[in-house]
Amino acid sequence: MDFNLMLNAHRGFAYLILLLTAIYVIALLLTMFGYSGKITKLLKKSSLFTMIFFHTQALIGLIMLFFFSPGFKEATATGTLMKDAVARNTYVEHPTSMIIAAILLTIVNKKFKTNDKMKMSWAVMAFIAIALMLWAFQWKRLFGA
Ligand code: HEM
Repeated sequence: MDFNLMLNAHRGFAYLILLLTAIYVIALLLTMFGYSGKITKLLKKSSLFTMIFFHTQALIGLIMLFFFSPGFKEATATGTLMKDAVARNTYVEHPTSMIIAAILLTIVNKKFKTNDKMKMSWAVMAFIAIALMLWAFQWKRLFGA
C-alpha cells in the first residue's frame, strides 16, 4: 500500500460523503417536519450509506495516520503536532472529531433501523454528528483556496 493511493481514496470518498450527507440532511428534515414523524425509507438508506462510508474513511484515515502519513511523522518527530495549528487540525482535531461523528452516526443508524417513529433526541444526535463532520472537514485541502 502506498500513501498517495490511500490519500486519493480518502479524498474521493470525501466527495461522496459530502453528497451522502446532503441527502441525509434532507431526509432528516423531511422526517422531522413530516406530518407523521415516520422514519422514511430514504432516511434509513441515507443513514446507512453515510455511516458505511464514514467507517471506510475512518479505516483509511487511521491507517494513513499511524502507518504512512509523512506529515504526522514529521510533526511528532519535531514536537510541533500540538503547537502548529495546521498540524493539530489535520492530525488531531480532524481524526478525533470524525471518529466521534462516526460513533454518533452508528448509534443513530441503529435507532432508525429498528424504529418507525422519529424521536427528537435522535435527530439532535444526528445533527451533532453532521456539525462535527462539517467543522472537522478539510475544506481547504480538498477544494483549495
Ligand atoms: C474517521 C476518521 C478519520 C481519520 C482518522 C482521518 C485521518 C486523516 C488524516 C491523517 C489526514 C491527513 C493525511 C496526511 O496528509 O498525512 C486526513 C485528510 C483528509 N481527510 Fe480524513 N480522516 C477521517 C475521516 C474523514 C472523513 C469522514 C472525511 C470526509 C468526510 C475526511 C476527509 C479528509 C480530507 C478531504 C482530507 C484532506 C486530503 C488531502 O489533503 O489531500 N476524513 N484525514
